[in-house]
Amino acid sequence: MRSLIKHVLTSKEATDSIHVAGWVRTRRDSKGFSFLELNDGSCLGNLQIVTDAGIPGYEDIQSMTTGASVEITGKLVPSPAKGQAWEMQAASLKLLGAAPDDYPLQKKGHTPEFLRSIAHLRPRTNLFGAAFRIRSRMSYAIHRFFQERDFVYAHTPVITASDCEGAGEMFRVTSLPDDKISRDTEDFFGKRAFLTVSGQLEGEAMACALSNVYTFGPTFRAENSHTSRHAAEFWMVEPEMAFCDLAGDIDVAEEMMQFLVKEALEGQEEDLSICEKFVDKTLRQRLENVIEKPFQRISYTDAVKLLEESGKSFQYPVKWGVNLQSEHERWLTEEYFKQPTVVYNYPKEIKPFYMRVNDDGKTVTAMDVLVPGIGEIIGGAQREERYDVLLENFKHHGIDAEAYAWYADLRKFGSVPHAGFGLGFERLLMFVTGISNIRDVIPFPRTPGHCEY
Ligand code: 4AD
Ligand code: MG
Repeated sequence: MRSLIKHVLTSKEATDSIHVAGWVRTRRDSKGFSFLELNDGSCLGNLQIVTDAGIPGYEDIQSMTTGASVEITGKLVPSPAKGQAWEMQAASLKLLGAAPDDYPLQKKGHTPEFLRSIAHLRPRTNLFGAAFRIRSRMSYAIHRFFQERDFVYAHTPVITASDCEGAGEMFRVTSLPDDKISRDTEDFFGKRAFLTVSGQLEGEAMACALSNVYTFGPTFRAENSHTSRHAAEFWMVEPEMAFCDLAGDIDVAEEMMQFLVKEALEGQEEDLSICEKFVDKTLRQRLENVIEKPFQRISYTDAVKLLEESGKSFQYPVKWGVNLQSEHERWLTEEYFKQPTVVYNYPKEIKPFYMRVNDDGKTVTAMDVLVPGIGEIIGGAQREERYDVLLENFKHHGIDAEAYAWYADLRKFGSVPHAGFGLGFERLLMFVTGISNIRDVIPFPRTPGHCEY
């Protein structure tokens, strides 16, 4: 049976018969034998394989170039070479697929831009392999965090008729032919439908029955943002808790972030080490900083005061009532507090209809978690649970109360205080790996003008 290189490299003992398969990273030939460095993606490390001339399959050795796929049997022996406990002594080799001279990853040191243009091959590089293994591990950690705390995993729809964020940045889903594109009532659902921007609204319905739920799935935004932190298709983790207020919501966000960072530090040590080496030398220190102490919490009003008194000249001037820009968020978390920072109670006018109106009538129970290097990583709120106030909010935000009657029902029948948030999964990965462009933490990124695969 085939062994994964990950297990071979951490083997406890020498073995007479092992079978591995993977892609050749490098080959060196000597008189009478060759060394192959083999990687199968199960871990960062390569297995060194010594192949003597004359063993079955050696006749193809000249085709076993960088990128070629091979299958090898042999024995595992202690390695005399430095930096590795084991190497393999091949008994037979089999070339599965050659990689001719135009294999784009012959040499190291390609730019991220070039690698993006070959997204189907970049998982074969050390850094992208590490990034996608970390991505997998973090997904698992998210389920663990919530499942261990009795949250129910709720599958909210991808196709929806509601615009959760009310920002009108939705991709339309239609089955109408091009020449009938505006005949909404003849469309598949008898009305306009879209790809969801958030699972929150349906998540609320589930929480108002199952108490604590979470969604984790793809979300879509047709915002024309050409930044390193926005993608048109990204994954979001959205817990929703019944009988929970804003402070409780922030507590869960903080605990979750600390859990996930710990999980990365402990579970993906080797993959993080390559991120640290090639992407961000301060990575470990930045991550340790998240788990050491509670997050800073500050109201929007106080945060704006700090920004006004900072003496910094921001590109976008800041005053009470404006939305915080990335430069403001980063000043707060990177320069002023130098740690993850939660800003809460934002002005009502700049936030969506579903947030609970505070007693001052001017602010709502919103919260954003800001982290150094990224800015906003989480956005959440305590929801408006008062039926009358929600209907007022609908009016204020120009929302069709009829279309959202089901959402208002949750306030009509057994309404409870409830709260939740959304964590941008790619932003979490950027934070954990130090990789500075969102296009490099998602295997096949979708951004304005780019849908190559
Ligand atoms: O702040 P947002 O828009 O909040 C919501 O969607 C709420 N309905 C969530 C909730 O309360 N259940 O988005 C949440 C997070 C942001 O903080 C950010 O990390 C990420 O989603 N995000 C994006 N990530 C990548 N590309 C984009 N275009 C993103 N837009 C938001
Ligand atoms: Mg937000």
